[in-house]
Amino acid sequence: KIIVLDFGGQYNQLITRRIRDLGVFSELVTHKTTAEDVRAMNPTGIIFSGGPGSVYADGAPRCDEAIFDLGIPVLGICYGMQLMTDHFDGGVEAAHHREYGKAVIKLQNESLLFKDLPKEQMVWMSHGDLVKAPPAGFQVDAVNDNCPVAAMSNESRHLYGVQFHPEVQNTEHGTAMLKNFIYEVCGCEGNWSMENFIDIEVDKVRESVGNRKVLCALSGGVDSSVVAALLHKAIGDQLICMFIDHGLLRKNEAESVMKIFADGFDMNVIKIDAQERFLKKLEGISDPEQKRKIIGNEFIYIFEEEAGKLQDVDFLAQGTLYTDIIESGTDTAQTIKSHHNVGGLPENMHFDLIEPLNTLFKDEVRAVGAELGLSDEIVWRQPFPGPGLGIRVLGEITQEKLEIVRESDAILRDEIKKAGLDRHIWQYFTALPDMRSVGVMGDARTYDYTVGIRAVTSIDGMTSDWARIPYDILEIISTRIVNEVKHVNRVVYDITSKPPSTIEWE
Ligand code: XMP
Repeated sequence: KIIVLDFGGQYNQLITRRIRDLGVFSELVTHKTTAEDVRAMNPTGIIFSGGPGSVYADGAPRCDEAIFDLGIPVLGICYGMQLMTDHFDGGVEAAHHREYGKAVIKLQNESLLFKDLPKEQMVWMSHGDLVKAPPAGFQVDAVNDNCPVAAMSNESRHLYGVQFHPEVQNTEHGTAMLKNFIYEVCGCEGNWSMENFIDIEVDKVRESVGNRKVLCALSGGVDSSVVAALLHKAIGDQLICMFIDHGLLRKNEAESVMKIFADGFDMNVIKIDAQERFLKKLEGISDPEQKRKIIGNEFIYIFEEEAGKLQDVDFLAQGTLYTDIIESGTDTAQTIKSHHNVGGLPENMHFDLIEPLNTLFKDEVRAVGAELGLSDEIVWRQPFPGPGLGIRVLGEITQEKLEIVRESDAILRDEIKKAGLDRHIWQYFTALPDMRSVGVMGDARTYDYTVGIRAVTSIDGMTSDWARIPYDILEIISTRIVNEVKHVNRVVYDITSKPPSTIEWE
């Protein structure tokens, strides 16, 4: 595997993404990882990511310098190359101009990193500092108008650096460079696939669980469904699924989940009706983070209570994804929102956690689901957050507001499906801002709620764009919502991408 040392930058996971797509497992680890820990992880290669800092600034993120002596190949990208230069006593300094955007580099040497690539090529630059002179023992492999060292290497020590970003699509041959690094330089085998993933995880689960029992939090969403199917494959009847109806589900959702899993899959599924309990806890609470924490905690408390009634359950399985972990804050990435299954866990958990998907991105999870034989209906189900409609009713949650979101969401889903757009739009739902406005209906003044429609295209939920739903379909949706849902007199369409927005409104 290849590990990526994270020096900041919200999108460094793109590097791991590209490498996995090339058939090699890769994960992002903090830059504080020690050389000893790196050795224990036994990676075939290491990538130093980019980052916003300057290597000579106070408090700039550094790495354990002993990592350079492990003999493992290293590729430094942008900040990573500057750090490597600084470590080996080369010269790093501030550039005259910050360079941002496309640039043409010229190759000076054909190092293994540039094997079979053209002499001149387009790359993506984004940096304030640059490497003025390579350290002793390094050769300059590429230059451009701004950078005397756009790429460098010390091939006998398997150390490489590039000033530009090979992980970004705008770098014409970026994928080929990463491929050269992992296969030509590191000699990886390239056997990472979803089939392989399932075999490895099934073995791991069997080994850690033995003949004990696992409780799985089944929400009916893609993630927990895939976890349930994976565990069912690994341990069969030792798996008990628990489906909690927290009263924040979409229309008809509870019935449909029970039908698919208990009837269709013949799994042990216990359904808990906890609608009132959740709503009571949420009464009078309008802060989004507080709502998330309450919902997350209540979930676990109910699980613990219910599990106490069962015999010998030691594990709790959850569908936590890689993106949930990254977005809930790592050493270098800022906390954007606390996802209910990461930040919301109470301190005194009585379970050991099993999170078999916590190294995967959403589209990888779908591939695992398909490989496990789950139906398209489940595999292609749009993502639904753990706190459910609780974070789509903005501000304080009431039964009336929940009903508005539930009904308007059902109409939206119905029309998107009828229009054949359900596979093309990554996620689509309605949200209810805590505001009312004036309208006129049947010659009378109304003062009612506004429903917001959110529909986005995305690959992994980390970034997204608003979906270009045709106007005539938006019109049908809007008319139906105002006509069929009580207390709504206005419908708006959210036309922001992520960033700067997020997908959910809370
Ligand atoms: P945001 O709103 O952060 O959402 O752009 C990114 C993706 O994550 C989903 N989401 C959640 N999923 N628990 C979850 O399991 C949560 O607390 C949570 N919050 C957001 C969101 O629906 C989108 O797909």
